[in-house]
Amino acid sequence: MQVTVSSGNNINGTLVLPLFEGSQTITDNAEGVPMALKSQINRVLNNGDFKGKANSVMSLYGAEGGKAILVGLGKEEKSDIHSYREAGATVVAQHKSSHDSELTVVFHTSDVPAITAFAEGMMMRDYKYDIYKKAEDDDEKAPLTARINCNEGDASALTLAIDRASAVVSGVHLSRDLGNCPPNDMYPMAFAEMAEKWAAEYDNVKVEVIDYETAKRHGMGGLVAVGMGSSRKPCMVIFTLNGDQKGRHPILVGKGITFDTGGISLKPGANMDEMKYDMGGSATVFGTMQALAAIAYDKKVVAITCMAENMPAANAQRPGDVIKTLSGKTIEVLNTDAEGRLVLSDGLWKAGTDFDAEYIIDFATLTGACVVALGHEATGLWSNDDDFRTRIHEASKDVGELAWPMPLLPAFEKEMTNSKIADTRNLGAGRYGGANTAAAFLKQFVPQRGEGDDAEDIPWAHMDIAGTYWGAKTNKMVNHGATGVHVRTMVKFITGQ
Ligand code: BES
Ligand code: ZN
Ligand code: ZN
Repeated sequence: MQVTVSSGNNINGTLVLPLFEGSQTITDNAEGVPMALKSQINRVLNNGDFKGKANSVMSLYGAEGGKAILVGLGKEEKSDIHSYREAGATVVAQHKSSHDSELTVVFHTSDVPAITAFAEGMMMRDYKYDIYKKAEDDDEKAPLTARINCNEGDASALTLAIDRASAVVSGVHLSRDLGNCPPNDMYPMAFAEMAEKWAAEYDNVKVEVIDYETAKRHGMGGLVAVGMGSSRKPCMVIFTLNGDQKGRHPILVGKGITFDTGGISLKPGANMDEMKYDMGGSATVFGTMQALAAIAYDKKVVAITCMAENMPAANAQRPGDVIKTLSGKTIEVLNTDAEGRLVLSDGLWKAGTDFDAEYIIDFATLTGACVVALGHEATGLWSNDDDFRTRIHEASKDVGELAWPMPLLPAFEKEMTNSKIADTRNLGAGRYGGANTAAAFLKQFVPQRGEGDDAEDIPWAHMDIAGTYWGAKTNKMVNHGATGVHVRTMVKFITGQ
């Protein structure tokens, strides 16, 4: 969706009016609104027919032409940037073919961050995944565009802010496209090819693909064990932005199971189709790299995605197998459905040993237990560094993509190292605390920086997005399917804005 800024007062197409609760009149700077429509709007407001409650909408069709969409921002004293973002998304969600495809938004405020958030909400919500549908005649209707009227003095700041938001949203939409792609077309090497094609568009990005044979040679036992039972072999994809920059840099790691059947520990059939989203972690980091490249971020960032398809097969791994990971540590595989942690063990180790990591953040649709704990309302957030975890939590709150602090406890770690025949096991001892034991398992595979007495922890965070990457019905930024969550969190966290 294209959003432009204009310091004029003209109204083109349908007028969009964001209003607080109790607003009594239309602003004076809405020139070009037909008189009849203007008085219709004022009547509706004065009579209290439109109350301005958060995310309520009302459409008005002027007796003498002109159309308007009123959208509520809720109580002024309670409203914040999130109210604006949600109102913007609501306008797009409620947009009907009887409205014009061209919108003009007139605000009561000149607050640049608030207006930018509204535009961001509109752009985020203007998304469809329909490439597998036969084109219908009415699909040919013009794409939505919006113009935002503002004071002359704000126009250039607002244009800059909205252009940046649009670039970031391109990363969110890429993440959704990847997550929504059906698993017959989204498999490990297909993801790698998409990454290579993407890299060709930018001079400052590089993509390296570690294919199955190379992964085997390098000793990536976790990735290999999970992916070997599929005819579509696993791979690791490494994205580098601004690789010529020296010094420490962030590294993101993504779980990329393009389909999770559970393997030999086969999942029940109901809703198994949803396991195409099990590469949501990889989609998140790919989308983040797109967003960073699109805003022309000029510092170095690396992302590692661990891609595999988890299939039951004659050559699949078995419960009871002991595998050796890139770290040299062995894992007793007690359940082949706990596969995400196996591929991540190699990704995390690689991140901490082959690069000069400032910090490592992994994203994974890791456990059903995290969905039990937090529902679809928050991502689970674990870290080996309290301050680091708090900063990620703050960034997530700032952009309206909540990540909630969870405990990384020694008792959980002990549970995961208690194997009779290997260094670690991939399954906790019981049913309880499954998201925490998974996080504690991952911690084993985050290397330290330096050696001996000088060794120190690399700040690391794990984000379990099993509940937030899809099925998040209260997420107003998306209709259904993949949410693209945390691309914006990461842009905020990495760039500081
Ligand atoms: N991909 C699943 C986790 C998942 C479940 C994501 C539901 C989204 C929605 C993961 O690989 C898995 O199967 N985890 C098991 C772990 C268990 C065997 C220890 C789980 O959560 O049941
Ligand atoms: Zn699984
Ligand atoms: Zn999985």
